[in-house]
Amino acid sequence: MPIYHRLGRVPRKRHVAFRKDDGSLHYEELVGNLGFTGPSSLLYHLHLPTAVKGVRPIRGLGWVAEPERVVRHRHFRTSGLVAGASPVLDRVPLLFNADVAISMARPRKEDPFFYRNGQGDEVVFVVEGEAVLESSFGELPCRPGDYVVIPRGVLHRWRLATGPHRLLVIESTGHVRTPKRYRNEHGQLTEMAPFSERDIRRPESLVTHDQTGEFAVVVKSGNRLVEMTLPHHPFDVVGWDGYYYPWAFSIHDFEPRVGRVHLPPPVHQTFEGDGWVLCSFCPRPYDFETDAVAAPYSHQNVMSDEVLFYANAEFMSRKGIEFGSITLHPDGLPHGPQPGKTEESIGARSTNELAVMVDAFRPLLVSRDALAIEDAAYLVSWLEPAP
Ligand SMILES: [Fe+2]
Repeated sequence: MPIYHRLGRVPRKRHVAFRKDDGSLHYEELVGNLGFTGPSSLLYHLHLPTAVKGVRPIRGLGWVAEPERVVRHRHFRTSGLVAGASPVLDRVPLLFNADVAISMARPRKEDPFFYRNGQGDEVVFVVEGEAVLESSFGELPCRPGDYVVIPRGVLHRWRLATGPHRLLVIESTGHVRTPKRYRNEHGQLTEMAPFSERDIRRPESLVTHDQTGEFAVVVKSGNRLVEMTLPHHPFDVVGWDGYYYPWAFSIHDFEPRVGRVHLPPPVHQTFEGDGWVLCSFCPRPYDFETDAVAAPYSHQNVMSDEVLFYANAEFMSRKGIEFGSITLHPDGLPHGPQPGKTEESIGARSTNELAVMVDAFRPLLVSRDALAIEDAAYLVSWLEPAP
């Protein structure tokens, strides 16, 4: 995220000797993407960050798609998913392509190991529960409604607080960022953006662990999990600075745009990756023209698969969904308000909807696991009732 941040102690200049009290050197490490040209941070460790005692394979992670893809409108009730244990290993795959993958976790236990996703950035939407994301960069408290953005390679662990916990996980092959049109040439979010740097929460306290022994790190890479054993606690950083770190933004801090007549979903855009965008639909007053139709018109998002996660049970244009529902409107299929919802929206003053939309520009596959929670009747939910 392009806001400079610094925690702990760092030397007066980068790449100069930075000594501990006993005269030995701290170990400097650069963490960043795009080969020294993308966003990066410099970390100062007590122990050599490259030291590994051993590695062992755990398992493959190939996501399995439904056996036959019959293109249609889909609805999945994630409330029917069985709770797993781990926040990072027990995620149920739902929808995926090569650019973006969506899964859900309902963790009950903290992991005894640390985790590094080496193949994608993660946006973890906290649906329910409070937690602290611990990482080499410090502690980041998280609460319901937060998008927690964890760049690729950031070593972390979820510490669970008040539950139950439900996490919607959006994993991106490309770097997750704010839309370019929200930023000026200097990288600052402009006055026209629906949120500002002040809304971006950064790690706030750095706890340095000086412990040796055996510490397990589960690494995800190439759709496989391996366990590495480190000879020291990985959160041994005394200070860091830069632009590459985990951060949080609350959906409740998104300032929704309202027009005299209906504004299309791009005004709700929050993030983007390569091949997908994310939008936040938030409580807001409705359009203020007399006779304005607040509900959207029917539309075909060709070359776009639209996923909506409903973070409460209300959505201006939709019937039959519930808190935790996910709908998928794939490429080329017209969709829009169900019968009655357009008329209902005329003259209405406001909406309390809260939803996260992911639009993927290449077709999404539905996982085999998602079939168990599918509402097959959604397909026919636009049929007009018989007179
Ligand atoms: Fe749509």
